[in-house]
Amino acid sequence: MAQPSFKTVFVFLDTDKYCSPFDMLVAIDAFPDSMIFKYENVNDVDAPKIVFDLLFPRGPMGAAHTKIFVNGSNFDMVEKVVEATQKCMASAPWGNSIIVDPRGGYSTAAAAVAKTLGTSLEKGLGTLEGKNVTVLAGTGPVGQTAARIYAAEKANVTITSRTMAKGQAVADKINTEAGAARVKVVEVNKPEQTANAVKDAEIILAAGAGGIQLLSADDLKTATKCKIVADINAIKPLGVEGLGSNDDSKELSAGIFGIGALAIGKLKIKIETNMIKRATEAASGLFDYSIAYDIGKAAILKKIAKAKEKAGQ
Ligand SMILES: NC(=O)c1ccc[n+]([C@@H]2O[C@H](COP(=O)([O-])OP(=O)(O)OC[C@H]3O[C@@H](n4cnc5c(N)ncnc54)[C@H](OP(=O)(O)O)[C@@H]3O)[C@@H](O)[C@H]2O)c1
Repeated sequence: MAQPSFKTVFVFLDTDKYCSPFDMLVAIDAFPDSMIFKYENVNDVDAPKIVFDLLFPRGPMGAAHTKIFVNGSNFDMVEKVVEATQKCMASAPWGNSIIVDPRGGYSTAAAAVAKTLGTSLEKGLGTLEGKNVTVLAGTGPVGQTAARIYAAEKANVTITSRTMAKGQAVADKINTEAGAARVKVVEVNKPEQTANAVKDAEIILAAGAGGIQLLSADDLKTATKCKIVADINAIKPLGVEGLGSNDDSKELSAGIFGIGALAIGKLKIKIETNMIKRATEAASGLFDYSIAYDIGKAAILKKIAKAKEKAGQ
């Protein structure tokens, strides 16, 4: 009897009213012959019903070709849906791969951190361990994931928020996970408070909402230890005055290198595509921010090694 051949199907579980076309397009571009099913307004109560119904009809061989992509701008609900999905897998006879990238937060943060690591290594400034890093507006999906990755790299992280309690909740969560007090909060609800948040920073990452400038050129001048400044906001006004979207390790002033949002965005797409490909090759497993960062870091280290080889070092 002929073996069944299974089409790759991506099932999007989105916590938002509308499923974002962004990630569906990335998935289709990575696998043009695949199909997409999308479910919107998903919460942790509904998720198990959908997950069990996608696990069983194709049997274990078919399930290996069915990939779940959990998405949405409600970060907490995304985490709950992932938990509920994993719980289903644990109680079922077989599972699926789960890709998690809430509104690009994981892949973008992974790209931003990997790019700052790359510049640090290229400029002879060493790894991220022990570096003072300030993540401006470090409470959104991208900012808090970047802070989490910097903390995992053993950097000393400061995040800012307009609300102390909101920032502290993020810091507490990361510190608990890290088992060490790696993240602290500085409240910034007036522009004149920014200088205090960046005074010790060697790396600054602006992670604010689109169209909001978080760091002025004058504030950057006060950050006398800063060597690398990066921004993920590609909507004007940009997050850092004087840093262009396409700047890629550009020397903005003597000894300060800038990385803009579109330079980070290029690596972000590579990471997300690779995450989807890895999840598609694997029968099961969780493909989240830590896999995203592994992919980004490996790409950066490979690029640096290649450049060294070319230079005969
Ligand atoms: N480059 C790329 O490839 C890429 C990919 C995805 C997203 N992005 C960009 O990444 C950025 C962050 O995305 P996200 O989803 O994490 O952002 P977000 O949740 O919309 O905002 C991040 C943080 O910005 C702060 N904020 C909001 N409005 C502000 C204001 N008026 N003044 C000062 N701070 C304000 C908030 O912090 P507090 O309330 O704690 O102050 C918020 O938690 C966005 O600019 C997005 O467009 C870039």
